[in-house]
Amino acid sequence: MTTLAIIGGTGLTQLETLTITRREMVQTPYGEPSGPLTHGELCGAQVVFLPRHGRAHTIPPHRVNYRANLWALQHIGVHHILAVAAVGGIRDDMAPGVLAIPNQVIDYTYGRAHTFFDGDEKPVTHVDFTEPYCGMLRQALIEAGNKAGVDPRSDGVYGATQGPRLETAAEIERMAHDGCDLVGMTGMPEAVLARDLGLCYATCTVVANRAAGCVPGVISMEEIDANLKTGMERVRGLLHEVVQIDLEHEH
Ligand code: HPA
Repeated sequence: MTTLAIIGGTGLTQLETLTITRREMVQTPYGEPSGPLTHGELCGAQVVFLPRHGRAHTIPPHRVNYRANLWALQHIGVHHILAVAAVGGIRDDMAPGVLAIPNQVIDYTYGRAHTFFDGDEKPVTHVDFTEPYCGMLRQALIEAGNKAGVDPRSDGVYGATQGPRLETAAEIERMAHDGCDLVGMTGMPEAVLARDLGLCYATCTVVANRAAGCVPGVISMEEIDANLKTGMERVRGLLHEVVQIDLEHEH
């Protein structure tokens, strides 16, 4: 059974090396996922792929139906979710093109449906989120990245912002003071919704640009796209290694 899902972000709306076997549209109590779940084989391993922003990259970060996406993946039997996400680099060593596997999150988003525990039918539930990512999957990602020779950073605090605009220099300065190393727009509530459902979830971030104010000048979409092109090549290398790891029996 397929238990590993890859959620693709900006720069990874398609997995060219995935041999597609079928696409599955799942109806959820929360509405439509970002698109059909694409089943296929990646380097001989069964995976499910879902581009977070839709196949044509039309869904902005604040309008992604995170609950529908996570619910749909769990519904078809997924246990492990590997999320790929473009970020801005705040920490000095988070240069464009670098891959980083964050270990912590600070959430600055607002107005997003951020929990599965908000219905009258369920008792009040406070889910533990001390360690927001699945430690086993993080280690697998780091190991796979090292094997692929893409030298991933093995930690980092991910600051999740609302978007779709980029941040001001003062906002990034504040985030740096808060301890953020990376800034992105989709890391939350995705991570906590996975935790709500008891899924093993970790993120591979790809630095697309230096965060606002970290270097002089403005941030252009052209710069982001160019860095993501090379960064996503490295992500593909990591993905081809990580699918060789038997996640069901890792501890
Ligand atoms: N900020 C927020 N999200 C991002 C950035 C950024 O600088 N770059 C890519 N995603």
